Amino acid sequence: MRIFGRIRSSLDRTYMHKCPKDVIIEPTIKCNLKCSMCMKSFEQLFAPSRYQELKSGRIRPSMSFSILCKALEFCDKDSKVQFIGTGEPMMHPNILGFIAEVKRRGLTCCMTTNGLLLTKGVSDRLIDMKMDYITFSVDGATDETYKKIRGVNIKTVLDNISYLNEAKKRRGAILPSISINFVGMVSNISELPKMVDLGSELGVSSIAVMHMCRDIGNISINMGSLEERGIEYYKKTADKYFDLAGENLYFDRKKSNKYIDIALEKAKEKDITLFAPYFREPETPHDCRDLFETLLIGYNGDIFSCCYEKFFLGNLRYKKAENIWNSRTVRDLRKRYIKEGIAKVCPACPKLDRNITIKSYR
Ligand SMILES: C[S@@+](CC[C@H](N)C(=O)[O-])C[C@H]1O[C@@H](n2cnc3c(N)ncnc32)[C@H](O)[C@@H]1O
Ligand code: SF4
Ligand code: SF4
Repeated sequence: MRIFGRIRSSLDRTYMHKCPKDVIIEPTIKCNLKCSMCMKSFEQLFAPSRYQELKSGRIRPSMSFSILCKALEFCDKDSKVQFIGTGEPMMHPNILGFIAEVKRRGLTCCMTTNGLLLTKGVSDRLIDMKMDYITFSVDGATDETYKKIRGVNIKTVLDNISYLNEAKKRRGAILPSISINFVGMVSNISELPKMVDLGSELGVSSIAVMHMCRDIGNISINMGSLEERGIEYYKKTADKYFDLAGENLYFDRKKSNKYIDIALEKAKEKDITLFAPYFREPETPHDCRDLFETLLIGYNGDIFSCCYEKFFLGNLRYKKAENIWNSRTVRDLRKRYIKEGIAKVCPACPKLDRNITIKSYR
């Protein structure tokens, strides 16, 4: 009977025998910025339930070490642990301890950061710990544009990237590998070629462009669709949301593709890796394999199936990650994916909306 059960589960494509490839960990929901395009700046709008517990005072805004360990126990050597989330990882009071713990367990460690808190001392420690990847978010190549989006001068982040690169060179270190994440919008896409120049000067190994989510990240998913809630609801609560909607490159696809082509030429000239989303015609929806490959673990132990937090799967304080990973809820979703396709499972996801292909140099 047991053998029969094992054979059945090995044939069942909804049962994952391996851990997720990407384990995204949100160390904190605190942030030192209020970027114009970020869901963090609209926290009253998205997933209000995430903040209820916080407001009640029962929980702190940053992940505890014990939750981190519960998450890491579940990872295997092929899992990539990524510190990201809806906040600034470097705002966690023990982020270096978190990184050290990931490395101590022999796992691959990545972090996406706005880079403002990466002092020389912190950079030296990251090199010592052999942190694997660090991604700086820089969405403008001029002070004016960067400041408009992130609200602060560009100099600090550029100086910090430069120091990390120089310190690596001085010490003959190859890690951490440094990359840049550029959120592409109507008002900054023309600066992408210049960003490639800057990246090359700063010694970064790659630049990745992401389109700004059409509906500002999670809002459309967690608040229900515009049709469900009604346009007045949005207007009342998020005037800014409507300004930003015009920033989405979907509304200026020609311009977006034009600057991406120029930037790809530039990347070739400078010999730097560039990944960029290119609008394709006719529109064909995107696929998404996150239900089979990804878990997001929030600051308070909440587990979701992906960064868009569409499916809440349980909390690490009450359930083990391996049980959540193959829970009935997620297996039913995988079953629907296999039968009906992702567009039926997640009809409102901005990730499926993008109609893009990724063009790259290298
Ligand atoms: C939410 S941030 C958290 C990490 C860190 N605070 C930072 O800024 O890098 C993770 C990534 O999402 C990007 N991002 C922010 N708002 C976005 C949006 N509306 N659409 C797509 N990406 C966005 C950021 O630039 C960053 O690279
Ligand atoms: S993009 Fe990062 S730095 Fe900016 S508000 Fe969002 S979480 Fe904070
Ligand atoms: S389609 Fe979107 S909401 Fe659905 S699993 Fe993928 S990223 Fe998450």
